[in-house]
Amino acid sequence: MKGIILAGGAGSRLHPLTKVTSKQLLPVYDKPMIYYPMETLIDGGIKEILVISDPHNIGNFVRLLGSGKDFGVKITYEVQDKPEGIAQAFLIAENFIRRDNVTLILGDNLFVGDGDFLDDAIRTFDSGGRIFAKQVPDPNRFGVVEFDKNQNVISIEEKPDKPKSDFAVTGLYIYDNSVVKKTKNLKPSTRGELEITDINNLYLQEGNLDVKVYEHYWLDTGTFDSLLEAGNKIHQLRKNK
Ligand code: DAU
Repeated sequence: MKGIILAGGAGSRLHPLTKVTSKQLLPVYDKPMIYYPMETLIDGGIKEILVISDPHNIGNFVRLLGSGKDFGVKITYEVQDKPEGIAQAFLIAENFIRRDNVTLILGDNLFVGDGDFLDDAIRTFDSGGRIFAKQVPDPNRFGVVEFDKNQNVISIEEKPDKPKSDFAVTGLYIYDNSVVKKTKNLKPSTRGELEITDINNLYLQEGNLDVKVYEHYWLDTGTFDSLLEAGNKIHQLRKNK
């Protein structure tokens, strides 16, 4: 299993914090944000990690994380010239993924409270796609899972005006190697992006999408409030240790 951390994007929702630096380098209590998704992948047993960021910030990630030796993993880097969608990561990473399966994590997603969940999910992963959903009060900010009467997943909708459930799709995706081919056949959405939600729906249509509920603390740090909340939560957890 290879790992990718996607850490580019315009970051415009956090201006002026992200005017001269990357969102994923901002502090979350005592560490730069990217440390948290990186530790999630490392706890999942992943040894080879590709960090993807924009041309302006990629050098800072190299300075921060280096070869990965200090973390006991191998880290390599690629540039995403323009933020043309989360799924574009699989095209940029094609030579890195080669014939392996791949776990993608968004550099602004924090999964806190259970070091073992990804290790379990990867060890029991065979093929298809596996994603993690979390109940949230504001589902319209996210990809949202729609269930039928029997609690089967029937679709995923990206930022719907009228969410059909309050289960958000988190930014952690485990896929088999067919994700590269699937992405090559994807058309950009009306906002001009290769959408991760389209990839999930492709796996779903094939009957190959496993949606697990993430039971612990999860945050996408994409707003000022969630960034502050993340820092406070980590602080509280460190104090209680
Ligand atoms: O956090 C989970 C959510 O992430 C999912 O529920 C949504 O389905 C998914 O689309 C995504 O929504 P966001 O609104 O958070 O996406 P955003 O455009 O903010 O991008 C998420 C992260 O990925 C952000 O840190 C920037 C980075 N990114 C994004 C794009 C589109 C890139 O590095 N390159 C890109 O091209």
